[in-house]
Amino acid sequence: MIVVTGASGNVGGQVVALLATAGERVTAVSRRTAELPEGVRQVRADLDDPAGLKDAFDGAEALFLLVAGQDPQAILDAARAGGVRRVVLLSSQGAGTRPEFYRHPVAFEDAVRRSGLEWTILRPGGFHSNAYAWAESVRGGRTAAAPFGDIGLPTVDPADIAEVAATVLREDGHAGRVYELTGPAPTTPRDRAAAIGAALGTPVRFAEQTGEEARAQMLRFMPEQVVEGTLAILGEPTDAERRVSPDVERVLGRAPRSFADWAGRNVAAFR
Ligand SMILES: NC(=O)c1ccc[n+]([C@@H]2O[C@H](COP(=O)([O-])OP(=O)(O)OC[C@H]3O[C@@H](n4cnc5c(N)ncnc54)[C@H](OP(=O)(O)O)[C@@H]3O)[C@@H](O)[C@H]2O)c1
Repeated sequence: MIVVTGASGNVGGQVVALLATAGERVTAVSRRTAELPEGVRQVRADLDDPAGLKDAFDGAEALFLLVAGQDPQAILDAARAGGVRRVVLLSSQGAGTRPEFYRHPVAFEDAVRRSGLEWTILRPGGFHSNAYAWAESVRGGRTAAAPFGDIGLPTVDPADIAEVAATVLREDGHAGRVYELTGPAPTTPRDRAAAIGAALGTPVRFAEQTGEEARAQMLRFMPEQVVEGTLAILGEPTDAERRVSPDVERVLGRAPRSFADWAGRNVAAFR
């Protein structure tokens, strides 16, 4: 049995669906009730309360773990006590490139490495799906606002992250690996707005935000440290952050999906 945390979310929901389709027994963990494929066991629990995870982990062999909750060591102890032998952690590129800003994922990576479990760490860069932040302004006024409109980064499709996670959870040969997950090519925010326009068949205007405007918007839903790290990556990416990683193709045997492909599959959110 495989336990998937974040099952009500973007990546976790897709990991659950892929594992269930592959015939695995799955326990889906989240605080909210998630819509799940038939046969998937749902456990509502908070990663901030590791004692409450006992039921979820009972009889499990593998765990897909998100960075959530404050005590990764206690989560991993509960997992091991329940029978888990393999853990796949969804960390973040910033844990490698800007550890001073990304302390939460760094703490989870350290705990996973020390856990005694067979581990694999996934470090995605920015997600294609961060463009959902534009859904309302594109629907209402065909406008997309972001800072650093001409700086390119190889954002990654959450569907590819989920497919890598589902593969690594089921397949041997990935123990002790850290996979950097990116898309197939850098795109700028201006390119991404244009790709959404192309998917809609009508232009989307790109509006350049100042760093201050973006900071104020991001502080509404991200901790301050992560906002500073994210703005640094978006505005002054290092070579490592601009680099297209070979790891999605290494694991899946096919190229990662482009932003334009994501926009085409998710165009309904912008209509
Ligand atoms: N977006 C990016 O550019 C980016 C880049 C690198 C890494 N990441 C990482 O990728 C992760 C997944 O992204 P996503 O798009 O799938 O996020 P999402 O759609 O917001 O889903 C987050 C999931 O985490 C669960 N969760 C949050 N806190 C929890 C807690 N205390 N206990 C149990 N479950 C909890 C939520 O479920 P409930 O609310 O139902 O509990 C939800 O299922 C993010 O959390 C982030 O750390 C994101």
